[in-house]
Amino acid sequence: MTNGFTDTFLLNNSIPGLAIDEIDLSQTFLGKNIAWPLMINAITGGTERARGINQCLASLAGKYNIPMAVGSLNIAIEDPDTISSFAIVREKNPQGLILANIGADEPPDKAVKAVKIIDADALQLHFNVPQEIAMEEGERSFKNVLVNVEEIAAVSPVPVIAKEVGFGFSRETVEKLFACGIRIFDNGGQGGTNFITIENQRSGLMAEGFEHWGIPTAWSLGEIKALQLPIVIIASGGIRTPVEATKAIAMGADMIGLAAPFLKAYVREGEAGVESYLQGFLYGLQAAALMTGSRNLAELSRQPLIIMGQTAEWLRARGIDPGDWTSR
Ligand SMILES: Cc1cc2nc3c(=O)[nH]c(=O)nc-3n(C[C@H](O)[C@H](O)[C@H](O)COP(=O)(O)O)c2cc1C
Repeated sequence: MTNGFTDTFLLNNSIPGLAIDEIDLSQTFLGKNIAWPLMINAITGGTERARGINQCLASLAGKYNIPMAVGSLNIAIEDPDTISSFAIVREKNPQGLILANIGADEPPDKAVKAVKIIDADALQLHFNVPQEIAMEEGERSFKNVLVNVEEIAAVSPVPVIAKEVGFGFSRETVEKLFACGIRIFDNGGQGGTNFITIENQRSGLMAEGFEHWGIPTAWSLGEIKALQLPIVIIASGGIRTPVEATKAIAMGADMIGLAAPFLKAYVREGEAGVESYLQGFLYGLQAAALMTGSRNLAELSRQPLIIMGQTAEWLRARGIDPGDWTSR
């Protein structure tokens, strides 16, 4: 299963009438000016090694002025000795846009604590039912999550982001969360990091057939965008190239999130590896914008996107016309 973007195509513009250094992909995002539509998604915290990873990612997030989320802060609330592995992110990037992260089922007071630990600009609430089900020690009841989210949204001192971790939000889920007060969604679709497979390798709990569980990122993005709600959309889950990221923006994403590629680059080659990956990605975003003839994100978001294959079939099966993205 792929992230669905292989079925989508942008038009090559042979006469863009632009120079690459004119292209400005900055925007105001969650109240701060951000240089690029790319964020480092939630990865880690809680150990000495995690502290090193967070330090590296936060320094680069600051240098390139992109948002960064930390991994779940649950451990920092349970064990204050681990706080510094998260707090380093704010130390290294005092002015940057930093997102806290905690499970959507955690009590509201914990959610507020999570925000305070890193003086976060926003709070990601992660939704990861399949991952929990695949874990020996995972949750088994998800009965009260919606009420809990509504309570967190009411008391959170910063905007709340509902975030899937690789199984994809459906439009029905987004509608329910919207009714609870959520206005920012990270669709976290299928096609990248696969927590059922990862957890099942440890637990062996799941019968075969769940490896491809979830809604691919492009399919989820298409159906969420078609709701036409006044929401901010972060597209994530298996986005690996600047071309895919650009297609996601043309499809309706305001921001793109990547997790595993940053971690892999760090494991392979440390901070230099992450920086080189990031530089390549950012240049690629500018290049793709140029090649479509888009000077900025507003122009990019209006580019025709041709949607074919299974992604188009999925949208049609959900009552959405894929031609809506082409004829504009
Ligand atoms: C090692 C690792 C740890 C992660 N930890 C968290 C976490 O604590 N909270 C969370 O919301 N998502 C977590 N994620 C999920 C990512 O933020 C992201 O939603 C998911 O990996 C899909 O994006 P990707 O395909 O670019 O990796 C983690 C991902 C990885 C690879």
